[in-house]
Amino acid sequence: MKYLPSLILFLFLSSVLAYGFPAGEVKIAKVDTTGSPSLKAVLPFPIGAALKVNLLKKNLNYRNVVLREFNSITAENAMKFHALHPAPNVFKWSDADYLVNFAEQNNMRVHAQTLIWPKSTPRWVTEFHGDREAWKNLLRMHIQTVVTHFKGRVAAWDVVNEAFEDNGAYKKAIWLEKIGPDYIALAFQYAHEADPDVLLFYNDYGQEHGGKKLQAILNMVSDFKKRGIPIHGLGMQMHVVLRINIKNLQRNLALIAATGLKVHMSELDLSVRYKKPHEFMLDPTLAIAQGEVYHAIVKAFLNVPESQQYGITLWGIGDRDSFWNSKSKSRTHDYPLLFDHSYKPKPAYYKMLDAGRKR
Ligand code: G3I
Repeated sequence: MKYLPSLILFLFLSSVLAYGFPAGEVKIAKVDTTGSPSLKAVLPFPIGAALKVNLLKKNLNYRNVVLREFNSITAENAMKFHALHPAPNVFKWSDADYLVNFAEQNNMRVHAQTLIWPKSTPRWVTEFHGDREAWKNLLRMHIQTVVTHFKGRVAAWDVVNEAFEDNGAYKKAIWLEKIGPDYIALAFQYAHEADPDVLLFYNDYGQEHGGKKLQAILNMVSDFKKRGIPIHGLGMQMHVVLRINIKNLQRNLALIAATGLKVHMSELDLSVRYKKPHEFMLDPTLAIAQGEVYHAIVKAFLNVPESQQYGITLWGIGDRDSFWNSKSKSRTHDYPLLFDHSYKPKPAYYKMLDAGRKR
């Protein structure tokens, strides 16, 4: 106890050194990372980020962080149904092709997202008329055109995204309505027919909490195995908050790993916004607390058997680009990612590096 005041003083001074005084805008001191290790050099599994094509093209700081730190990339939006296939006979490949070329030129893996996400279905699809066979054909045509276009150039696809409710029921979706629950298995089959070598993932949020949703996903995996439907991995999105229950995460990760499938933390970010006023700044204490949770998450991931560690993908690069800060979200001041508004590493970055270092 007698060391407590010195400890507090030490923590305060180190925070001030790292960030400047916690007043006004977050002041992150210039951190020179030249010559320092990168995430991709230190972490023993692939480390990815979801990318915005316009930023990659236009923002040099953003692009440099991507090049320096990551060895796997995902399109944040450019490979979604509405982006690639905006009208019945129209496919727009340019943004997605740009990303795949970028990955190839820089020896990066592409984890592609997503073939079917009920929430990102274009209007022309919801207005389509036809019987069950016609809907199956539409599903097949979209999936096989897209998978064939990127064949041999992407490592994996999130085939279906967010098909279950928290209570384990199927989530409302036009494909569910027109084809029935088997639309999920059909999507995996169609993708596999188009590229038998590409890895196929099911992706969803909230699996870290376990419960009925995780159970429904695990049941789906067992059913697929029985029926010989190809599935190679599960993506846990991991849009988490500071209060995440790490014990629960460890327990549920173990259940997911017990399927034998590859495990992907596919959209990791860590909101610090909970119960904060609309406008707030990330102070050093909160930034350090966030780093500790990132550390614990990486440690939990490292308990997955090595051969099943597909990797971790961060859902963005700098805090300013996070979808949590988009205009459509009510919380416009969140700091969920590893890099600050100027693309400087935050404590979360260093804690992630630290967690990956061999003891
Ligand atoms: O492209 C238009 C642009 O032309 C327009 O100027 C702008 C105006 O706001 O909107 C742009 O589209 C937005 C797009 O992001 C690109 O910024 C859409 O409105 C917006 O809905 C879209 O949000 C994306 C969301 O998925 C829906 O597709 C987020 O960026 C993206 O981070 C988010 O990602 C999802 C994962 O795919 C699945 N898991 C959940 C995760 C978060 O919702």
